[in-house]
Amino acid sequence: MCGIVAYIGPREAYPILIKGLHRLEYRGYDSAGICLLNDDIRVFKCKGKVSDLEAFVEGKNISGNIGMAHTRWATHGEPNTINAHPHFSQNRTIALIHNGIIENYAVLRSELKNRGYQFTSDTDTEVLVHLIEDIMISEQVAVEEAVRVALNQVIGAYAIVILAKEFPDKIIAARKGSPMVIGIGKGEFFVASDATPLIEYTNNVVYLNDEEIAIIERGKELKIKTIKNQSHSPYIQKLSMSLNEIEKGGFEHFMLKEIYEQPRSIFDSMRGRLHIDQGIVTLGGIRDYEQKILNAKRIIIVACGTSWHAGLVGEYLIEDLARIPVEVEYSSEFRYRNPILNEDDVVIAISQSGETADTLAAIDLAKTKGATVLGICNVVGSSIARATHAGVYTHAGPEIGVASTKAFTAQVAVLTLLGLLLAQKKGTLPNSEFHKLLLELDSIPAKVEQILLLNEKIRDIATIYKDVKNSLYLGRGYNFPVALEGALKLKEISYVHAEGYPAAEMKHGPIALIDEHMPVVFIATRRGIYEKVISNIEEVKARKGKIIAIVTEGDESVKNLADHCIEIPDTEEMLIPLLATIPLQLLSYHIAVMRNCNVDQPRNLAKSVTVE
Ligand code: F6R
Repeated sequence: MCGIVAYIGPREAYPILIKGLHRLEYRGYDSAGICLLNDDIRVFKCKGKVSDLEAFVEGKNISGNIGMAHTRWATHGEPNTINAHPHFSQNRTIALIHNGIIENYAVLRSELKNRGYQFTSDTDTEVLVHLIEDIMISEQVAVEEAVRVALNQVIGAYAIVILAKEFPDKIIAARKGSPMVIGIGKGEFFVASDATPLIEYTNNVVYLNDEEIAIIERGKELKIKTIKNQSHSPYIQKLSMSLNEIEKGGFEHFMLKEIYEQPRSIFDSMRGRLHIDQGIVTLGGIRDYEQKILNAKRIIIVACGTSWHAGLVGEYLIEDLARIPVEVEYSSEFRYRNPILNEDDVVIAISQSGETADTLAAIDLAKTKGATVLGICNVVGSSIARATHAGVYTHAGPEIGVASTKAFTAQVAVLTLLGLLLAQKKGTLPNSEFHKLLLELDSIPAKVEQILLLNEKIRDIATIYKDVKNSLYLGRGYNFPVALEGALKLKEISYVHAEGYPAAEMKHGPIALIDEHMPVVFIATRRGIYEKVISNIEEVKARKGKIIAIVTEGDESVKNLADHCIEIPDTEEMLIPLLATIPLQLLSYHIAVMRNCNVDQPRNLAKSVTVE
């Protein structure tokens, strides 16, 4: 969702800001804008891509060594130039960019209108900039104090950056519920929605906490205070991310690069945790909470989208391995449905970005009800990582493609480790079984490598099905979440309608859809509920549906029925999602490319969904 970048220092701000916006493009957006400040405060903005903004500013005065820039993902008001950020205050002396939603904007807007303020956009954001100016004028205070007073009147989520003509050496930034990080260089500061625009300049960062305001002044130390006016010392952290992790590295798309990174990312998610020689699993981040989990009456997993699919795999794994009851909930439903929770419950929030607004709200709710809340996050230092009592990072590395790929397999790998750790501590698994699983898990990265060699074959299958309008994905047991994930990947990047179902549910409705035009993707691996899935394949074949099957190497039964078989290496049933997902990611990728879709930035989607 909206991306923010700002700079103050000795260099020209424009190139840094534009490059920063490009780095944030992956978050999803529909318009872009920039503000530069020296003697004058200038705003340039337009609908469309960052490259459109670059074309728009050609020949204009873009000088200045303080500035801010924004990519907008429309919430209030259509994606057009007027609604794009930055927004000016009435006197055009203050400019503001915003990520989040001001929920009480309607009330504030009508109060400001009564006081003579005119609104040019349909956004909730414009309310805030007028309000700040109104406070500056009526209370005769400096901009940071006006921001503080204004934020006390605001209900909702925000990450904001403000520049004021009167203060040409100062950036004010604040956050609540939307991410914001400040990079500290030598005599210069950077502000951004995440660390990707900063890492080529500095490794020293400060993550703003909710309701904190940063006062960033040229030649001075960074100052942080809360909206209740309490000063805090900035906590400076070191980033471990490297620049080549966020570049395409020769691949045509980030998504393809990230699919190919999976042997490494799965390995990294298990590194230092899976100890084959000692026959143990360790998860340092939750060591202090192990007993709490082992004694839990229930584990409740909250997540959205792909992370929710990983949660479903987690449910099967933890119940199978450790015999602890697990429920998996969409964060957005959980947060509003008055769930029964108590102190014996352990809630696990799963999130790649660590910024998903609904998951953050679910965490808050669980905490207020006394539950222990753990996180499984990819982005280090993210809001969810900080909001939970403890957690485990997936260490998949930055995921830039909007469609989640390597983050999913890393989440599943971590959940597998968690299941194994709990099983060992609880004694729910015979030793021999436990060791067999450890060894098999260790072999997964190499097996993923083998599956990636099927890319050409999968591409050929994609050529046949690239023009379909609908598709079904079916699987049972551990392969049911894989079916859901395969269908989500296809619909989000290629805009082909795709439904995932448990294969046995087919007869309860979806079978009506099947005819000679309907491709059905079966995840029909030999372990698990194999024979029953074969019966489902027969049923689809009898109705002339086209069958693409993910099967275990050497399978003969499905081969005789399916139109296309993709063979993956054999593994233990509970580890199949780590393998079976890979060909489905490749299939979606190739179909989307052949349909000329913007694979890395699909329409309407945002990488981190920071509004509910
Ligand atoms: C799908 C996808 C989304 C995310 C969802 C949750 O490819 O990326 O469905 O999985 O928005 O995001 P996180 O994991 O960041 O909480």
